Amino acid sequence: MKPLKTLIINGSPRARGDTAALIGALRSGLAGEVSELPAYRARISPCVDCRFCHTNARCAIDDDMRAVYADDFDRLVVASPVYYGSLTPPVMALASRLQIHHAAKHFLGAPIELRPKRGAVLLAGGGKGIPAEARRLSRVILRILGAELPEENVASSLNTDELPARGDAAALEKAREIGERL
Ligand SMILES: Cc1cc2nc3c(=O)[nH]c(=O)nc-3n(C[C@H](O)[C@H](O)[C@H](O)COP(=O)(O)O)c2cc1C
Repeated sequence: MKPLKTLIINGSPRARGDTAALIGALRSGLAGEVSELPAYRARISPCVDCRFCHTNARCAIDDDMRAVYADDFDRLVVASPVYYGSLTPPVMALASRLQIHHAAKHFLGAPIELRPKRGAVLLAGGGKGIPAEARRLSRVILRILGAELPEENVASSLNTDELPARGDAAALEKAREIGERL
């Protein structure tokens, strides 16, 4: 049997930051093949609403979004810092490019078939507030890409201004457990 593949969308600009700490913990529990898409270093343009996808079941822009469109993974993790209550700009750009799925369904009448997959969300936030919008948008990304997201597969390290994620034992343990479960 082929090893299961995981794609981790890493929405942090900081290579050794809080999101990276959570991803490290998740990866320590995770088996199979893993690839990371570093959203800040990848070349992923935002959707420009050119409407090519209204008549073609794909995107006109050819860039690193290929890694997502390939749909060759069995688990999908959205990991991001919270910016203004939501996800970071390059993750928003990536999310906008999922418009091809909406267009295929509504304009072409033929949804793009996706591999069923399991999902997880890792969030890091400097403040103590619950990042409801970041969670909602992460859930939307996973749903559009065919990933189920059980509530227990969401881990967050909040209050990183006071306690960086690498010192947040509860969040790291939860991320590791999610990795094992995925
Ligand atoms: C532009 C910007 C906006 C931010 N907005 C929020 C916010 O709305 N809520 C919050 O809790 N933290 C916010 N933060 C703090 C980051 O989420 C926090 O420092 C996080 O732990 C950074 O993760 P990283 O080290 O993985 O990049 C913001 C940080 C930046 C730079």
